[in-house]
Amino acid sequence: MIQIRDLSKAFNGTPVLRHVTLAIKAGETMVVMGRSGCGKSVLLKHLIGLLKPDAGSVHVDGIDITQLSGRSLDKLRMKFGMLFQSAALFDSMSVGENVGFALREHTTMSPGAIRKRVQECLEMVGLKGIEALAPSELSGGMRKRVGLARALAMHPEIILYDEPTTGIDPVMADVINRLIVALRDQLKVTSVVVTHDMSSAYKVADRMAMLYNGSILQVGTPEEIRRSANPAVQQFIRGEAEGPIQEGLPDPNAFSRLALGVSAARGKPR
Ligand SMILES: Nc1ncnc2c1ncn2[C@@H]1O[C@H](COP(=O)(O)OP(=O)(O)OP(=O)(O)O)[C@@H](O)[C@H]1O
Ligand SMILES: [Mg+2]
Repeated sequence: MIQIRDLSKAFNGTPVLRHVTLAIKAGETMVVMGRSGCGKSVLLKHLIGLLKPDAGSVHVDGIDITQLSGRSLDKLRMKFGMLFQSAALFDSMSVGENVGFALREHTTMSPGAIRKRVQECLEMVGLKGIEALAPSELSGGMRKRVGLARALAMHPEIILYDEPTTGIDPVMADVINRLIVALRDQLKVTSVVVTHDMSSAYKVADRMAMLYNGSILQVGTPEEIRRSANPAVQQFIRGEAEGPIQEGLPDPNAFSRLALGVSAARGKPR
């Protein structure tokens, strides 16, 4: 369904993605995990044509989305629903208008039918009856769920989820996990879920891919990933500070310098 080949992208000379190759089958849920800043959101944005790569391709149902623009890009994008990491709601519109936005723009549905679909989508994410609220009146977790309701509105074939459970309480996170699974099982939706929430990853994944240093380090079923012989994969899934993944971690010497500085300052007579 989605074939990512040799995808590379740099920003201001700094490579973020290096020759990423990954295939996502129709109807499966692929979880892409990796450390903060490793390029997960950048990868997702390439799948929907919001970013153009420096090299490589992304075929969606056989069509290379990286080569499209204008109307043909808009048309292919209609297959997708995307939940952005920051929810990306329009602040000037109510919740109901946000969720129904694409329906108003891209379909000939009547206002009544749109209202009904908006209501259904909000119910699916556990937010019945909040159509009239403004995005500014929502908590972080509510914003995320409204973003998800908006992603579902157009009956997408493919859903891209950027950190669907981050910033959401554990009970609601599980509701979201179950929704992701139900969309796959009942509607045969193909999904890519970007997350560093390992408990969510194991609950929703058919397969998992670990992005590290700009490339896919390993792809496999949750069981294969759990049993991975790769030390960086093991370190990540166990959430340990000790291991081959070191860059970007705080410098322990900085803590001891800080502690010395604090005790010296405390020891000074006033
Ligand atoms: N539009 C942009 N212009 C310049 N640099 C960017 C842009 N988008 C992302 N980057 C850089 O690309 C790198 C990867 O960013 P990305 O948002 O994909 O990380 P991430 O894996 O999603 O992290 P997190 O888990 O914290 O969301 C970061 O160093 C970021 O600064
Ligand atoms: Mg991100």
